[in-house]
Amino acid sequence: MRLDKFLANAGIGSRSEVKQYLKKGMVQVNGLVVKKGDLTIHENSDRILFQSQPVEYEKYYYYMLNKPQGVVSATEDNFQKTVLDLLGDCRRNDLFPVGRLDKDTEGLLLITNDGALAHRLLSPKKHVGKVYYARIEGKVTEKDVNDFREGLVFDEEFSALPANLRILSSDDISEIEVEIFEGKFHQVKRMFQAVNKKVLFLKRLSIGPLKLDSNLKPGEFRPLTESELHSIL
Ligand code: URA
Repeated sequence: MRLDKFLANAGIGSRSEVKQYLKKGMVQVNGLVVKKGDLTIHENSDRILFQSQPVEYEKYYYYMLNKPQGVVSATEDNFQKTVLDLLGDCRRNDLFPVGRLDKDTEGLLLITNDGALAHRLLSPKKHVGKVYYARIEGKVTEKDVNDFREGLVFDEEFSALPANLRILSSDDISEIEVEIFEGKFHQVKRMFQAVNKKVLFLKRLSIGPLKLDSNLKPGEFRPLTESELHSIL
């Protein structure tokens, strides 16, 4: 593996930050300062130090992606671009997105090869809150806030647990934030359908304590930082 890729994967920084760290002589491989990112290293046997601290080879990878619209939350698809196609050099066969966002939904998607973590974050029993920002056709009212708070029954097939709806603005097009604790198919869209409203735009802002980095443009991703990782492990 290339040294710069190894360091970025290990969460030291983005590829461009890693380049700067290398330039500044902050990285050593087997006792020698290395400034070039294209050096091939053997992650299981070479001793790599960053600021004199060993960088461990990672078994698990954790990326935060700002999912753009028009991309499917799958690992592969014969016809459509997938979220894994956005990972470029960081793509690995064992990575998968934690849960799904609709093709037209944007925002925070966690991509990992840590199945146990994915299970914990997705399990409805764990009540991990997910916050979405949405633009809604029509006026969202206090009655909608109450209906969401009490939980919704749409039809035999769809009911929703209590959710926290916050109105940011209410007009012909309203802006809201909603926190939900489950992840059924089209969950937020169906909740608004249950109160006779239509979601025009949907973006996930957070999963539990993990917040979408506002510096990431749609389509961009980065490894989780140590503290982000600890907050969800
Ligand atoms: N709810 C939806 O309706 N769509 C998503 O992509 C996520 C939550």
